[in-house]
Amino acid sequence: MKKLFIVANWKSYKTEAETLTWLEEFMKEYQAVVKENTEVVVCPPFTALSVMKESVLNSRLTLHIGAQDISPFGEGAYTGEVNAKQLQEFCSYVIIGHSERRNYFNESDEMLEKKVQMAETSGITPIYCVQGKDTSVPNGVKIVAYEPVFAIGTGQPDTPENANEVAKQIKDSKNVPYVLYGGSVKPENITSFIAMEHIDGVLIGGASLHADAFAEMIKNA
Ligand code: PGA
Repeated sequence: MKKLFIVANWKSYKTEAETLTWLEEFMKEYQAVVKENTEVVVCPPFTALSVMKESVLNSRLTLHIGAQDISPFGEGAYTGEVNAKQLQEFCSYVIIGHSERRNYFNESDEMLEKKVQMAETSGITPIYCVQGKDTSVPNGVKIVAYEPVFAIGTGQPDTPENANEVAKQIKDSKNVPYVLYGGSVKPENITSFIAMEHIDGVLIGGASLHADAFAEMIKNA
């Protein structure tokens, strides 16, 4: 059975209180639906990392926590940045290179490479987003998420066949062992992506905000 990654990207949604409500609902269903080969990662906003860590520890959920961004710098005078050493207390994963960060915050390939280095030196695994097969991937990245911009938040996913082809090309050309697909993944279509030979999981935005839909997707996978 292949290893699967199911990753929730909450983006700039949910307060601490809303995170607790989500967790309460999610816990009712999660242990019954998660399978041994599946790594489930939830990436809340920075402000909810602490409460999520505490809940996961207290409930002994086999749930991994990720951040949605990381500073390209270490400790220092970088107002507003959250660095790898700080994130390490909460996270084992971090999303790097999401198209929203590239577009709205002008993140360059050079900066993204520094972020990957910072994550890796602190033992945090990057989930590196690419927008197509030609997006560059920094050395050492083990998990890439293929997220075509037309599919993000639009309800118009790529076809599983095309996503599989792109995943294969990324694996062959960039020496990456795991490729995920992201963009309008829903409970109704998750199985068609997971069934593809070269797709090792999914990155889910909008649909992961609902605990019941997220649990259903884990079950369907
Ligand atoms: P979506 O977002 O599932 O809402 O399309 C995916 C993403 O941006 O990671």
